[in-house]
Amino acid sequence: MTTTPTIELKPSSSPLAAAEREAIMANPGFGRHFTDHMVTIKWTEGRGWHDGQLVPYGPLALDPATNVLHYAQEIFEGLKAYRRPDGTVATFRPDANARRFQASARRLAMPELPVETFIEACDVLVRQDKEWVPAHGGEESLYLRPFMIATEVGLGVKPANEYLFVVIASPAGAYFPGGVKPVSIWLSEDRVRAVPGGMGDAKTGGNYAASLLAQAEAAAKGCDQVAYLDAVEHKWVEELGGMNLYFVYGNKIVTPTLTGSLLAGITRDSLLTVARDLGYESEEGRVSIDQWKADSENGTLTEVFACGTAAVITPVGTVKCNAGEWQQSGGEPGEVTLKLRDALLDIQRGTSEDVHGWMHDL
Ligand code: PLP
Ligand code: COI
Repeated sequence: MTTTPTIELKPSSSPLAAAEREAIMANPGFGRHFTDHMVTIKWTEGRGWHDGQLVPYGPLALDPATNVLHYAQEIFEGLKAYRRPDGTVATFRPDANARRFQASARRLAMPELPVETFIEACDVLVRQDKEWVPAHGGEESLYLRPFMIATEVGLGVKPANEYLFVVIASPAGAYFPGGVKPVSIWLSEDRVRAVPGGMGDAKTGGNYAASLLAQAEAAAKGCDQVAYLDAVEHKWVEELGGMNLYFVYGNKIVTPTLTGSLLAGITRDSLLTVARDLGYESEEGRVSIDQWKADSENGTLTEVFACGTAAVITPVGTVKCNAGEWQQSGGEPGEVTLKLRDALLDIQRGTSEDVHGWMHDL
């Protein structure tokens, strides 16, 4: 059932004091602080979507036998709101996040939230908590985290008959503490993130849980992130735990083909277009771990970068794998990486023309 509920406004009578909010906004970090409100919408079998509300941010009361706590029927999204030079606010491609949320819902046997309701829920929250959208000009933005959980109470393993959709928001600075400083990557040849026919192309918590051990092992080897390979041949580069990858071959950028076991990133998709706008070639293709190493050594692979909503565009510096270790672009952010980063951020921050109609005004 695809009913479109209205969202009733029940704003907080005690939002955080301006001075405290400003102190947080001066150094928000990533995902550490949350705004004054959240949006919640329920879904019940036979009734569809109902009881949309904007309410003060706060804990959710869940019965210990709530389905999601046991069987992880959960999906989420990540998108950002940016402040323009004139003080107005816009989100980046919320329709694309809404469609990916529907695709994740289908994979997890959950109800699909209508695209317009997803966008409206984000809009209502950002409008209410507009003062939490950081000032124009810096690295900061307001990160929105829509998610949906199975709320039926019971231990039977089946698609739930009740769900809760929630949107929360968090002022966000750079995802990596070093900002645009290159990150180091561990190439995981044994642990995989996702398998063919699995859930790798859905944005669901289980994929992130599956990545944590490899991430901890990478940290122990002195690396910031893990790059996962395909689960069959353990050969083809797929993505990082929370970002897609791009390989820069001079004037051409290449990103791993969507095989079903990696996420179809919206930043990834946008960069295929932004690169062409800047006069580069851009394509999807397969890159093997051996090719990555050989092309870095023979100098044809000039830069590598990671991309995603939280990470924006982050250069890759050191790469480590069982066969050794090497430096990408001398360990410095590459020229193409930085040009693409600036071009994308200029669109998002409203300092260049939004020729593709990606920005959604609030
Ligand atoms: N891959 C994974 C596993 C992610 O979690 C993310 C982040 O959302 C991405 C890629 C990049 O996707 P997007 O650019 O839509 O944020
Ligand atoms: C995002 O970029 O929105 C993500 O969900 C990635 C996560 C690692 C924060």
